[in-house]
Amino acid sequence: MGEVDPDFIQALEHRPKPHTIEPENIPLIDLSPLKSSSDANAIVSLASEIGDACEKWGFFQVINHGVPLTCREKIESASRKFFALPREEKKKVSRDELNPFGYYDTEHTKNVRDWKEVFDFTAHNPMTIPVSHEPDDKRLIELINQWPEDPPELREACEEHAKEMEKLAFKLLELIALSLGLKRDGLHGFFEDQTSRMRLNYYPPCPAPHLTLGVGRHKDGGALTVVAQDDVGGLEVKRKSDGEWIFVKPIQNAYIMNVGDIIQVWSNDKYESVEHRAVVNSEKARLSIAYFLGPAHYTWVEPLQELINDQNDKPKYKGYNWGKFLITRNLSNFKKLAVENIQISRFKA
Ligand code: OGA
Ligand code: NI
Repeated sequence: MGEVDPDFIQALEHRPKPHTIEPENIPLIDLSPLKSSSDANAIVSLASEIGDACEKWGFFQVINHGVPLTCREKIESASRKFFALPREEKKKVSRDELNPFGYYDTEHTKNVRDWKEVFDFTAHNPMTIPVSHEPDDKRLIELINQWPEDPPELREACEEHAKEMEKLAFKLLELIALSLGLKRDGLHGFFEDQTSRMRLNYYPPCPAPHLTLGVGRHKDGGALTVVAQDDVGGLEVKRKSDGEWIFVKPIQNAYIMNVGDIIQVWSNDKYESVEHRAVVNSEKARLSIAYFLGPAHYTWVEPLQELINDQNDKPKYKGYNWGKFLITRNLSNFKKLAVENIQISRFKA
């Protein structure tokens, strides 16, 4: 027998398993108790609802979140206009080895894995991160956004949406802090300097959707992620109880939240960062807009002392520098290095 093409093996690995339609869905949480008129008890019970969802699923959807619909419509419409441009136009704002922000598609990349195009930008321009992943290299770099000329409204739409996402992410972070028994603002200190960023994901219709994925299974490395998906649907979450892939039903104007690796480490594995992926389809293009909340690059990520009070409970991680983690993962993504993405399991105690 001849040699098996490694790309073929990889395609098989990424092939979605056929599965039956699953009626169960991730929890849906109504954030109305956050409106100023609500009493303290309502907040406490909301926090416990969120804690349960984080523990059981690591994923949930929120409604009555306070993000204006017009802001969402604006970014969706500008994003669709951008991705509809000819490739040559979009490539004028391509990301490169120096700047990870901008446009890229997977068409020109060897070793194609994902069927998508993306546009990345930092939510706090500029973003300061280490120059390299080498532990001894103390140099820092400021990364800046690049914006296309067309459509002219994309920049403002993205900047406004990023601000709304930050507000929502902090509301969720506060509820998570409460649910863990911390003070409401107990996690704020990590985000005075942020590495939060956003990604517009565009998944064109795919002629062979059963042979590939829009984005292969992965966990998000940041603190938490907030995603807006359109009505096409395609996001799937790995159910913790049995490892089955569960389709996340699109709910108009809802946002999806998921726990990232950093909250997993802070909570000493109480809330796990759960694997997810996006499937594609042969007919419709799909758009999703992700916001990744990230702490300052110099953050030492380790289980929080306040959460390890039981005598038998030892810290499960040794800790790591967030900036170095971020750059290691981004480098391996960009250069398609023959290594798996860096994972927090590497820092297990
Ligand atoms: C991501 C992601 C899912 C989606 O960008 O990290 O998981 O639905 N996206 O596009
Ligand atoms: Ni993700």
